[in-house]
Amino acid sequence: MTSRPPITPERADQEAPKLRLDGVHHAYRDLEVLDGVSLELATGELVTIVGPSGCGKSTIFSILTGATAPTSGHVLIDNSPLGPATERFAVMPQSDALLPWRRVLDNVTLGLEVQGVSRREARERVQPLLATFGLEQFARAYPFQLSGGMRQRAALLRTVVQDRSVLLLDEPFGALDALTRTDMQAWLESVWDTFRWSVLLITHDIREAVFLSDRIYVLSPRPARVVAEVAVQLPRPRRIEHLSSPEFVRTEAELRQVLHDARGDAAQR
Ligand SMILES: Nc1ncnc2c1ncn2[C@@H]1O[C@H](COP(=O)(O)OP(=O)(O)O)[C@@H](O)[C@H]1O
Ligand SMILES: [Mg+2]
Repeated sequence: MTSRPPITPERADQEAPKLRLDGVHHAYRDLEVLDGVSLELATGELVTIVGPSGCGKSTIFSILTGATAPTSGHVLIDNSPLGPATERFAVMPQSDALLPWRRVLDNVTLGLEVQGVSRREARERVQPLLATFGLEQFARAYPFQLSGGMRQRAALLRTVVQDRSVLLLDEPFGALDALTRTDMQAWLESVWDTFRWSVLLITHDIREAVFLSDRIYVLSPRPARVVAEVAVQLPRPRRIEHLSSPEFVRTEAELRQVLHDARGDAAQR
């Protein structure tokens, strides 16, 4: 596994971002949800969006997948406007969305089958990844037989095998207990460090954001605006020991302060 310096402003200038949102506004009828959100994701970068519950995070993903059209603003992928959107993104939704009547293997191949890949080929693509995702012994099990962490790994495997250029992960560990969650964060970080997918991750868990991310965008309460962009200067691979390092503690405190201030500002608006 290689270690890589975080994206610096110079580096971001040299390469066109993989994905860019520019002044995106959205309202559901009268409910203003996004108030000019701009953000970027570079190739191979793991970027997190944090913000209070209900601020508009999942709405950003529905815009990216084409489920929702923004009221105004632009979304660019590889410098071109978002076309038939679903082709470039693989989404892991907020619920794991595993089908209870399909075995784990058949759940994991589902995304590929929806794309028109034959079941046989889909299984061949999934097979070598089952061990990495800790599912080798459970390929023939049904979702109800899995632990919460396994379910999330299966949902993530279904997402990554689709081989899209950007992964969108919406609160992937939101339903897990604290201990499982910590294990899953460490596991995801090490798998990500191997594969270097371009990931946009949503969470409301600040420590999770710091532990996993290259950069973090902090959103205000609804209607969401980006109130801060924070680079995480911790080396990769990240380790549990990093949780108590001065840089971790400093970054976490900075994020809590920004979120707190944004709440106060929103209350006064
Ligand atoms: N399809 C929809 N129609 C109307 N309102 C919606 C819809 N989806 C979400 N909302 C509302 O928009 C706001 C932002 O929702 P969401 O993007 O899911 O927030 P988050 O993911 O940050 O918790 C919430 O008040 C939510 O109730
Ligand atoms: Mg959400």
